[in-house]
Amino acid sequence: MYKVLITDPLSDLGIEKISQAEDIEVVRKTGLTHDELLLAIEDADALMVRSQTKVTADVIEKAKRLKVIARAGVGVDNIDIAAATQKGIIVVNAPDGNTISTAEHTFAMLISLARNIPQAYHSLLQGEWNRKAFVGTELNQKTLSIIGLGRIGSELAKRAKAFRMNVIAYDPYLSDDRAEKLGVKKADLEEAIAQGDFITVHTPLTKETKHLIDRNMFAKMKDGVRILNCARGGIIDEQALYDAIQEGKVSGAALDVFESEPPRDQPLLTLPQVIATPHLGASTVEAQENVAIDVSEEVLHILRGEPFKNA
Ligand code: NAD
Ligand code: MLT
Repeated sequence: MYKVLITDPLSDLGIEKISQAEDIEVVRKTGLTHDELLLAIEDADALMVRSQTKVTADVIEKAKRLKVIARAGVGVDNIDIAAATQKGIIVVNAPDGNTISTAEHTFAMLISLARNIPQAYHSLLQGEWNRKAFVGTELNQKTLSIIGLGRIGSELAKRAKAFRMNVIAYDPYLSDDRAEKLGVKKADLEEAIAQGDFITVHTPLTKETKHLIDRNMFAKMKDGVRILNCARGGIIDEQALYDAIQEGKVSGAALDVFESEPPRDQPLLTLPQVIATPHLGASTVEAQENVAIDVSEEVLHILRGEPFKNA
């Protein structure tokens, strides 16, 4: 029997197959403290997580039988991959199960930001009828700069083009051919930063992308630019964003993710120009089923010594 430990909430339907497998015992323990995780991991053969569980080097060190860490989602920045690799533990993710949901969420944030929908709703609930305070801006003919044109960035580009936006993208790995197919203008980082009316980031969080959008970048943006981050907290320097909003350089920001989650005493959340959601990009029934099915299959293959895809 293999023990599969699940420490973040995963879709019941998504893990049905692995739960019913005769050679698998599924143990679901969510909301563990770090010390509780150190105990629970000792005899696990597989660990399945979303983003809440921090799979640090000491957790990996404690594991005596662990063969695979599976991330039911895209970003693997909550897993110490170097420590896992050193112990011969395979790290897999679900790279495309939540692409559409996250692109749709980003687009919802884009429209909400342009038209001040959350602020206007909040004001209406306070008994106000303030039409002057919430004059927005059209998306039509505005420039959307996408930093990171991978799966989610590409799906977002298609939706933005349907709204008649000019889409430009910076991605060091973007080919001319792919940009042309998507109808997107390829740009370098400086151009994408300088030309965007809306700038949205869709890169992974890595050493290279940490604070990619910093004080220096904000200074190069158009006055009144609007910023979106539905990728990872930390790609945008939060203090620099706060200052750029206070100075009037940035007229609004939409954030689904934060450097520290859940954010505590986060100054950005006190600003009326900021709209936010609690890391909901992938939170749809469809995406959660997709990613849980994908990683369950990977875990089964790996434990049984069969070929697998997404390491
Ligand atoms: P992806 O791997 O398909 O795309 C990422 C793109 O970023 C790639 O094309 C890559 O070339 C590019 N990139 C890498 N370094 C870059 C750099 N320095 N500058 C510009 N581009 C760079 O991944 P994806 O599925 O599109 O997801 C992107 C990120 O979104 C994930 O890593 C994850 O952190 C985040 N995400 C968030 C949610 C959410 O719930 N908010 C959901 C899914 C994914
Ligand atoms: C991801 O990287 O896939 C996202 O963080 C989605 C999630 O797991 O909530």
